[in-house]
Amino acid sequence: MQLSDFPVTPVQQSRLSQVDFDNLGFGAIFCDHMFSMEFADGAWRNPEILPYQAIPLEPGVAMLHYGQTVFDGYKAFRGVDADVRIFRPEMNARRLHDSCRRLCIPAMGVDEMRDIMINATRQLIELDQDWIPSRWGQSLYIRPLVIGTEATLEVRAADSYRFLIMTSPVGSYFTNLEKGVSLRVEDRFTRAASIGGLGAAKTAANYAASLLPGYESRQQGFDQVLWLDGNEHRYVEEVGAMNMFFKIGGKVVTPPLGGSILPGVVRDSVLTLLDDWGMPAEERRIGIDEVVDAFRAGEVEEMFGAGTAAVICPVASIGYKDEVFALASASPGELTQRLYDEITGIQYGKLPDRYDWTVRVSVSGRASTG
Ligand code: COI
Repeated sequence: MQLSDFPVTPVQQSRLSQVDFDNLGFGAIFCDHMFSMEFADGAWRNPEILPYQAIPLEPGVAMLHYGQTVFDGYKAFRGVDADVRIFRPEMNARRLHDSCRRLCIPAMGVDEMRDIMINATRQLIELDQDWIPSRWGQSLYIRPLVIGTEATLEVRAADSYRFLIMTSPVGSYFTNLEKGVSLRVEDRFTRAASIGGLGAAKTAANYAASLLPGYESRQQGFDQVLWLDGNEHRYVEEVGAMNMFFKIGGKVVTPPLGGSILPGVVRDSVLTLLDDWGMPAEERRIGIDEVVDAFRAGEVEEMFGAGTAAVICPVASIGYKDEVFALASASPGELTQRLYDEITGIQYGKLPDRYDWTVRVSVSGRASTG
C-alpha cells in the first residue's frame, strides 16, 4: 500500500461558516472531508479522501440487520503552540483491528491499519485544519467505522466492506463536569456477556444494549449507567462511555480487562501515570457491595471515569437499588483533577509528552487558549 498521500476529491463549497464554535456539543457536526476505503474481491483497496456525504446502502445490507460493524474514537487537539496533536492513535488502530477480528471482518495487519489510520488522519487534519477548535476542552473527534456492505439476508460475514474515517469538532461529552456526573447501577439489564461476548469490541451491539437502561436512568434523574457483570450482576464493569475508577481508603481500584469491558486508551494512560506517581492502581474485581460498604464507612474518597470522549470525568454519586451514595465534596477530588490536568496538559502541548503519546501534525492557525 502506497502511504504517501491518498487521492483527494475536495469539497466545492466548505460548510465551515455554518459552524457555531460556541455551541459544538458532541458529534453533531462533521467536517468537510472523510476517508474511505473498500474491501472487495478479497482485498482492501481504493483509499481516497472525498467530501463528507451520505453513502448508498441497499436495505438488504446484512450489517443493517445483523450488526456487522465496528468503530473507534480518538482525538486531535490544537495545542497552546498551535501544533495539532493526535493522542495515542496507534492504540485505537490496534483496538479497531481487534474489534474487526471479533466481528469476523477481514482485518488488515495491525501495522497496516495503524499506518493507514494515521496517514488518513494527518491528511484530513491538513485539509480541514480550520475546523479544529482552538478553545480549551474542545478538540477534533476522529471516528473510524467499518461496515459490512454486502446485501444478503444470510447470517454470515459479508464479502464486501467499507472503512470510513470521519471527523467532528467537539466540546465536552458531559456538560456538568464541574459538579461531576451521577450514575445509576444497572442490576437488571447487561451491557455485555461476562465470558466470550462482545464487551471488549467497539461494536454497535454493546451500545444498542445500553440504550433502554440509559433512557431509564435519565428518566430517573441520573446521567449514565454503571454496568455490573453479566453473570451475577455483582461486580462493577464500566460506564459505556468510559472506564471506571474508585479511590477507596487511599487506594485506587479499577475493574480488570477480562474481555467484557472496553480496553480504554485513557484508562491505560491513567494506569501509566498512577504507576509513575508511585500509587499504582489495583486492577481487580470490585463488588458493588464493596463500594456500598465503603460508602457507609466513609472511605470512598474519589470516583471518576476515563474515556476518549469523556477524558477524565468526576463521578459525584451512584444510585443503587433505592439509595443514592454521594461523595461529600461536589468538586473533583485532588487525584481526579491531577489526572485531568496531566492528560489534557499533554494533549494540548502544555506539558512535556514524556511517554511519547502524541503524534504531531503541523498546520497553520491559532494556538489553543490553554
Ligand atoms: C469514545 O470515547 O470514543 C466513545 O466511543 C464513547 C462514546 C461517544 C460512544
